[in-house]
Amino acid sequence: MFKDLPLFPEQASTIAKHVDALYFYLVGVSGFFSILIAGLVVYFAVKYRRRSEDERPRPVLGSLGLELLWVIIPFVIVMSFFAWGANIFYAMSRPPAGSLDLYVVGKQWMWKFQHPTGQREINELHIPIGRAVRLTLASEDVIHSFYVPAFRVKSDVVPGRYRIAWFEATRPGSYHLFCAEYCGTRHAGMRGRIVVMEPAAYEAWLSGGVTSGSLAAGGAKLFQQLGCNTCHRSDASGRGPVLDGIFGKEVRLQSGDEVKADETYLRESIVNPQAKIVQGYQPIMPLYQGMVNEDGLLQLIAYLKSLKPVETESAEGNQP
Ligand code: CUA
Repeated sequence: MFKDLPLFPEQASTIAKHVDALYFYLVGVSGFFSILIAGLVVYFAVKYRRRSEDERPRPVLGSLGLELLWVIIPFVIVMSFFAWGANIFYAMSRPPAGSLDLYVVGKQWMWKFQHPTGQREINELHIPIGRAVRLTLASEDVIHSFYVPAFRVKSDVVPGRYRIAWFEATRPGSYHLFCAEYCGTRHAGMRGRIVVMEPAAYEAWLSGGVTSGSLAAGGAKLFQQLGCNTCHRSDASGRGPVLDGIFGKEVRLQSGDEVKADETYLRESIVNPQAKIVQGYQPIMPLYQGMVNEDGLLQLIAYLKSLKPVETESAEGNQP
């Protein structure tokens, strides 16, 4: 429909038509009322113009019915914006289960991608059609914004934390990727493309890529190199918490609060372990801020995600 109109990116994801429908609804309602109000201003200006020097208009004494009307009608319209928008926002912020997990690092001035199987790409991302893709976005330096117009996906990429975005591509092709947050002199050059492939072609591409082992395997190596394994042991004999099966679990902190061990929590616990101390443990872990780059952090997290809970008595003994 919008193919010949370069003002409008094509719709290439499952959410695109919903976003566009809401967009046209907003533009339609705004346009309708703009024209209505502008038209009435002109009409009334002519109709109630002053016809003679001594003309005195009748005083207006107000009308409850009218006032209720112009409160209720805008309220209903604005609530429809809210309900529709919240509905789409909700869908866009919850990746479906079983999504393909991909990792994105933005830095001045490029996009770096890591596939769970270990392939790495720069300014180019290959993905399969018809499968939900869940992105974990990190920044190495300043705020960037990951923007793929054809997918109607835009997410700020913020240093010091992770953002999650997802989409499901619906047609093969190559789509623009932009950085949509001014991030320095070469911001405009921080572009790339998303290559959407048929599943078979994607599999062929994956197997053809050069890989130095999976993301989790890279994380396991880092885990050894950094000496994490000396304190975090699977048998609960270490000085640090057992990390097997940690991902997605509720963790009780010294403060008594509970936090969910998601990507952001795990990242924080690596770079700044003192921020949240797990109940029953000492704040003895050194800071790893600056010692691991964002790629490495994502590898460590992929490794932690891959660790399944250990089925031993000692693991059960940790339960309150
Ligand atoms: Cu990165 Cu603009």
